[in-house]
Amino acid sequence: MHDARTAIVTGAGSGIGYATAVALAAEGYRIVAVDIAADGTERAADAVAAAGSEALPVALDVRDADAFEAAVDRAEQHFGGAPELLANIAGIGVAATLTETSREDWDAVLGVNLTALFETCRIVLPRMVAAGGGCIVNVSSVAGVVGVRNRAAYCASKAGVIGLTRSIAVDYADRGIRANAICPGTVASEWIGKILADAPDPGAAREAMEKRQLDGRMGTPEEVAEGIVFLAGARFANGSAFVMDGGMTAI
Ligand SMILES: NC(=O)c1ccc[n+]([C@@H]2O[C@H](COP(=O)([O-])OP(=O)(O)OC[C@H]3O[C@@H](n4cnc5c(N)ncnc54)[C@H](O)[C@@H]3O)[C@@H](O)[C@H]2O)c1
Repeated sequence: MHDARTAIVTGAGSGIGYATAVALAAEGYRIVAVDIAADGTERAADAVAAAGSEALPVALDVRDADAFEAAVDRAEQHFGGAPELLANIAGIGVAATLTETSREDWDAVLGVNLTALFETCRIVLPRMVAAGGGCIVNVSSVAGVVGVRNRAAYCASKAGVIGLTRSIAVDYADRGIRANAICPGTVASEWIGKILADAPDPGAAREAMEKRQLDGRMGTPEEVAEGIVFLAGARFANGSAFVMDGGMTAI
């Protein structure tokens, strides 16, 4: 293992977050595995241990800033020192056009995907600055870069993630902070599995999703985790929105 570095990973309970927790563990990071699903945080902690590192599982809703701040305090006591990496991965989506989107759904999607990032970054940034620097990777989406049908609130939230990430890069670069966004295309996570299972014709829905990528397949959570690990270590990457979408937006 490298020097003991700590990474906070939100959404660590499944999909891209889980794969990222494991990939970062293999790189020598100790992991604060945050998820709203307690069983997911425990599974992630076991996988991190199997990858040769150590995890602190923390079950919380990322919209609860006080709970998140208490978790960061706990992590600093447990592991010692400020986190070096914050990977904001927890996210939700609602399938609806703008006129079909209820205010409740809008608030839920913006709350988890964007406002929670504002809070987690607001809590972690001063600690990173005091420690001499750190790195933030925020998960956006191709839906933050191009319009995706029936995803009004989701597109708005993910475009907001890119804007927030760039503003952090601009404002904090001189204090040793790098902030980058990653914009995955369609990834075969638990979430997409549920969307497909609920579709009227799951086979046709899967085929349509696969066809959106140039090589006719969805990405894997592990492939996106590679991108997040890359951005965590890429010292000349700052304020970028790294599109990793199997060529979906190249055409
Ligand atoms: N799967 C895709 O095709 C895809 C594409 C682009 C971007 N993304 C983004 O990647 C991220 C991860 O998605 P995924 O596909 O792995 O989904 P997933 O549903 O498999 O994983 C998301 C995790 O976030 C957790 N979570 C949800 N709301 C939370 C909350 N309020 N507080 C704490 N944890 C919460 C869930 O419990 C879950 O474990 C999301 O931000 C998503 O928008 C996914």
